[in-house]
Amino acid sequence: MGKLDNKIALVTGGTGGIGTAICQRLADDGAQIVTTSFGGVEKAEIWRQNQNFDATIIKCDVSNYDDCKALKEQIEKDLGVVDIVVNNAGITRDGSFRKMDAEKWSQVINTNLNSAFNISHQFVEGMTGKGYGRIVNISSINGQKGQFGQTNYSAAKAGVHGFTMALAQEVARKGVTVNTVSPGYIATDMVMAVAEEIRNQIIAQIPIGRLGKPEEIAALVAFLCSDDAGLITGANLAANGGQHMH
Ligand code: CAA
Repeated sequence: MGKLDNKIALVTGGTGGIGTAICQRLADDGAQIVTTSFGGVEKAEIWRQNQNFDATIIKCDVSNYDDCKALKEQIEKDLGVVDIVVNNAGITRDGSFRKMDAEKWSQVINTNLNSAFNISHQFVEGMTGKGYGRIVNISSINGQKGQFGQTNYSAAKAGVHGFTMALAQEVARKGVTVNTVSPGYIATDMVMAVAEEIRNQIIAQIPIGRLGKPEEIAALVAFLCSDDAGLITGANLAANGGQHMH
């Protein structure tokens, strides 16, 4: 018996580095996985064939409210009411503030912060109606401490936790928990895209001396999704190898 048997879990951006590990772990725990893909459908299909679990992939731009509404309608028609939402989809558009144009700013705010509203708004009512639900918002160490070159990303990721704390209060009585997970630097394509020299300087600041593994984030997300975590809501759980403590 898995801890998440009979649960439907939506993981946005599930084909990415951390997203894939979250899908795998929730599937291992028994959940039925639905994920969104914004990029090419063909790429997502190749991803699906390479996984050893079943997943339904639905094309969706999480920064677009109407797309998220259509996503909900399709999931409810084909599978049922979603129990678990992991708001994981995210992008970077790094640049020092003087080089940050309005497009880089709004792309990141729309994809990393407005998405939490666009997606959660579709599924909260189903959860409160059932008297059970889990929402996990993936933020970042850089939403907690700021990062040179990431005014957009740090703002969005800090905003995500404000959203978590407010929503957690509104749904607590209905059996729904809302939490933030703030990963540090994890070995994914997103982090590998940082110039090697800068990346090495960052790794030197991590007390455990290495990048995190996507599976280490997935394990924390799975715990928050389990019944064991019913007492935890409105929390921001850091998993960053000691790079930022507070
Ligand atoms: N602190 C202080 N000064 C810094 C600095 C820092 N951390 N980094 C660069 N500078 C200085 C440089 O020494 C340089 O100074 P001089 O002009 O006096 O020589 C100046 O700032 C460079 O400024 P530029 O505007 O020219 O910046 P750039 O274009 O060279 O580089 C950047 C900007 C690409 C954003 C680069 O700073 C960078 O890659 N930073 C890391 C960003 C990062 O950590 N991204 C994380 C991506 S992964 C992720 O986001 C996942 C997650 O959640 C952790």
